[in-house]
Amino acid sequence: MGIEEKRCFDRLSITGCRGSRVNIILLGPPGAGKGTQAERLVADRGMVQLSTGDMLRAEKNAGTDLGNRIKAVMESGALVSDEIVSSLIDENLARLDAGQGVIFDGYPRTAAQVETLDGLLAAHGRKLERVIELAVDEDSLVARIVGRYTCARCGAGYHDTFRQPRVAGTCDVCGSHEFKRRADDNEETVRTRMAEYRAKTEPIIPIYDARGILRRVDGMADIDRVSAAIAAILDGR
Ligand code: AP5
Ligand code: MG
Repeated sequence: MGIEEKRCFDRLSITGCRGSRVNIILLGPPGAGKGTQAERLVADRGMVQLSTGDMLRAEKNAGTDLGNRIKAVMESGALVSDEIVSSLIDENLARLDAGQGVIFDGYPRTAAQVETLDGLLAAHGRKLERVIELAVDEDSLVARIVGRYTCARCGAGYHDTFRQPRVAGTCDVCGSHEFKRRADDNEETVRTRMAEYRAKTEPIIPIYDARGILRRVDGMADIDRVSAAIAAILDGR
């Protein structure tokens, strides 16, 4: 065992080590900060982000058969079918090294997806350690979402008010000057996405709570504080 691995082992932390084999779900409504926090966990802990929203957008933007089938559903704010998202997760899990910890971002979103994920984790020899709920005040989420944009080249996330690039019009990460906004980031669609969350996703919270792996974080705190709260949970502090 190397020094780094030994230090991790001694701390009995569930994700304190780069690349440690931990699997978590980030759960919360549209705009809760799932993607923002996942991006940080990838950078800080070498985990892998599996975002069903990103996978579906990639299909849509590439104009694949699947992308063309789901375009209208996504742009209405409704959920894509359980079968489609679960098969994307299955394909992506199959590509990962066993030692890579996974952050499920935006999946599962229905009780059926919870059940499917249980089966997929078992099939891929993985265990779910934590489900972290980002608790937010829905009224403020519309402002978060409609102000959001990303770098068109590297995907780094920004916001008109909360997270601007250090140099206006230039991506902090790759220096690109091209940015884009999501087709579903308008107020009307956001309302539908919220309603879908309340009707289909919120009911899965008690399932994970009953398993004793659910932890709740104040998602209304600033981004660094939310990251610190997640780190404390993952490090068992
Ligand atoms: P998806 O892409 O998953 O979208 P979502 O769940 O609606 O969530 P968002 O990505 O909008 O929000 P987020 O929580 O990632 O917030 P972010 O970090 O960006 O899904 C899109 C669509 O795909 C669905 O509507 C559905 O059609 C389909 N789909 C996806 N998964 C599916 C599934 N499993 N089943 C069926 N269909 C599925 O933050 C938002 C903004 O706020 C950013 O600008 C950020 O900078 C800012 N911000 C973040 N944290 C803070 C903070 N603490 N304080 C201030 N600002 C903050
Ligand atoms: Mg997201």
